Amino acid sequence: MIDIDEWTITGATLKAQGGTSDARLKTVMDSLVRHLHDFAREIELTEAEWAMGIDFLTRVGKITDDKRQEFILLSDALGLSTLVTAQCNRRPKGCTEATVFGPFFVPDAPSYRNGDDISNGASGEPCFVSGAVRGIRGEPIPDARMDVWQSDDEGSYDVQRTGLDHAEGRGQLASGADGHYHFKSIVAVPYPIPHDGPVGQMLEKLGRHPWRPAHLHFMIQAPGYQTLITHVFRAEGPYLDSDAVFGVRSSLIADWKRHNPGPAPDGTRCDVPFYTLDYDFVLNDAAKE
Ligand code: BEZ
Ligand code: FE
Repeated sequence: MIDIDEWTITGATLKAQGGTSDARLKTVMDSLVRHLHDFAREIELTEAEWAMGIDFLTRVGKITDDKRQEFILLSDALGLSTLVTAQCNRRPKGCTEATVFGPFFVPDAPSYRNGDDISNGASGEPCFVSGAVRGIRGEPIPDARMDVWQSDDEGSYDVQRTGLDHAEGRGQLASGADGHYHFKSIVAVPYPIPHDGPVGQMLEKLGRHPWRPAHLHFMIQAPGYQTLITHVFRAEGPYLDSDAVFGVRSSLIADWKRHNPGPAPDGTRCDVPFYTLDYDFVLNDAAKE
């Protein structure tokens, strides 16, 4: 293959990678090459812009480590994470909707019992969270494993705070025999996605803000059911209609009720204002995945 030009390069590249015996890899790579080349032709990509793109991706890579995942952030900010989540989680009506995973999940978070305080010292106004985990036919799901994670009242996740050597605002618990769960934590607040790196610069240049509306993350797993990764959003507060990562679903917005100091749901007396959130999750059968 010689004398390849701007029009024949696509066919030549597809031919060069045609030898793979992996059918899915061929589908993915052929489509990627076609779209990439069409993109460059459509916008008449210049050499300076190509170099800028390479530099941008290099900086995304350099800032990424085991605590900071700038590539996921880039995918989130470009709407790719929401697109993939949506097309991989087409669930029957009545099931709780899935939304973006985000970069702040940590496997093997501390285990808690129902009623425990998962904030574990994170600062914020108290919030008592409760609800049930059910199947699509209304059946309670006992012993569902629930991972919960959230930021503190300054908008930082524990993994973002330097010098912190223990988990705060995250934990694992299990629904009870009747499918119910309850725990204490702190109220969620809006926060910006990390924007001190290349993704933040990209947002600024595009005239976009980096903020997410207040939310609590959940991952719920139970044998026989499709794993659910989702958030519950606070109805009051900004950014619900301009989430930097496009994660909001109206079915996931809930009323987090504010209460004056007084008796709390756990039987204690709260000397400061506190919140309650009651939210039920409906899981899809695993067979329907
Ligand atoms: C989060 O909600 O934790 C999150 C999601 C996407 C990007 C950054 C943060
Ligand atoms: Fe979050």
